Amino acid sequence: MREKRRQSSYTSKGYKKAGSILTDLNPVQREAVQQAYGPLLILAGAGSGKTRVLTYKVAYLVRELRISPRKILAVTFTNKAAQEMKQRIEQLVGTASLNMWIGTFHSICARILRREAGSAGVDPNFVIYDTDDQLTVVKKALEKLKLSREQFSPKMVLSKISWAKNSLISPQGFTQLSGNFFEQNIARIYQEYQKGLAANNALDFDDLLMKTAMLFDSNPSVLEKYQQRFQFILVDEYQDTNHAQYVLVKQLASRHRNLCVVGDDDQSIYGWRGADIRNILDFERDYPEAKVIRLEQNYRSTKRILEAASAVVKNNLGRKGKTLWTQKAKGDKLT
Ligand SMILES: Nc1ncnc2c1ncn2[C@@H]1O[C@H](COP(=O)(O)OP(=O)(O)OP(=O)(O)O)[C@@H](O)[C@H]1O
Ligand SMILES: [Mg+2]
Repeated sequence: MREKRRQSSYTSKGYKKAGSILTDLNPVQREAVQQAYGPLLILAGAGSGKTRVLTYKVAYLVRELRISPRKILAVTFTNKAAQEMKQRIEQLVGTASLNMWIGTFHSICARILRREAGSAGVDPNFVIYDTDDQLTVVKKALEKLKLSREQFSPKMVLSKISWAKNSLISPQGFTQLSGNFFEQNIARIYQEYQKGLAANNALDFDDLLMKTAMLFDSNPSVLEKYQQRFQFILVDEYQDTNHAQYVLVKQLASRHRNLCVVGDDDQSIYGWRGADIRNILDFERDYPEAKVIRLEQNYRSTKRILEAASAVVKNNLGRKGKTLWTQKAKGDKLT
């Protein structure tokens, strides 16, 4: 059976044959894949084939439309999701995937910053600090400023710095925004913390995003180079993008506007991972010509789970209209 399938839709190397890409999709998914040019927002719930559409779209661009893999950027949120996306794309297009940029926002930004180190004002061999390293730097900053760890818990300080960076607020900007004594001290720690990182030739994860967005903002020719290169941009789990990531996508996509984002507009109402639902809701404002496609068939859940899920999300005001349906029979009663 497996052999037969290989014969019919896979090449001898095990990759999908070009003609079979569209036959693996339901009609709405197919429409989303074939909508290759212009901004496209795909909204759907969990398990409705969002990642499938995105990976098949990459395959469609390369194999059907003969777009150079070099022109494709596919981004997602976590390492796990990026790995999954990479593998699924590789299964569909084979070694052509090696010429694409596929990864997390952080890995893509690290790559850009190393290449553009001179313009970005960083050493190309910078190291990336994890939370433990960051805490050490904050503690040193507190000592230097003679501030107590009781009043300024290092973890709390780090979360404020992280918030600032993801909102693209520099230490100087933070100082200007700070009203009271407490905030002014956070701004001083932020400043000292950045000095500490620089002294160790280190960036933290939030720096990767902020410094890339700032590089693009202050260096139009660098931005243009990447805008020219990435003519097709695809973003998975768009509901999870923070402000810095949202800005990066906007910067890169504003020239060619071939931007396909897929998002789950129900997940983010729970505030998972600091999700910013506004990114999805603002998409149509940023791209008035955008097409919106909703995938409503669910491939994972049974009917009863969907009913329960719909009841939970019914009252969400910001949510765009969407009902879920499944061909699978009613499952066991939920307890
Ligand atoms: N048209 C289809 N035919 C058969 N199976 C499908 C189809 N679309 C999706 N699936 C299957 O449904 C499952 C969920 O798909 P996928 O991971 O792409 O969904 P998702 O919306 O990205 O899910 P998540 O919300 O977890 O990110 C996968 O096993 C996928 O292969
Ligand atoms: Mg997915």
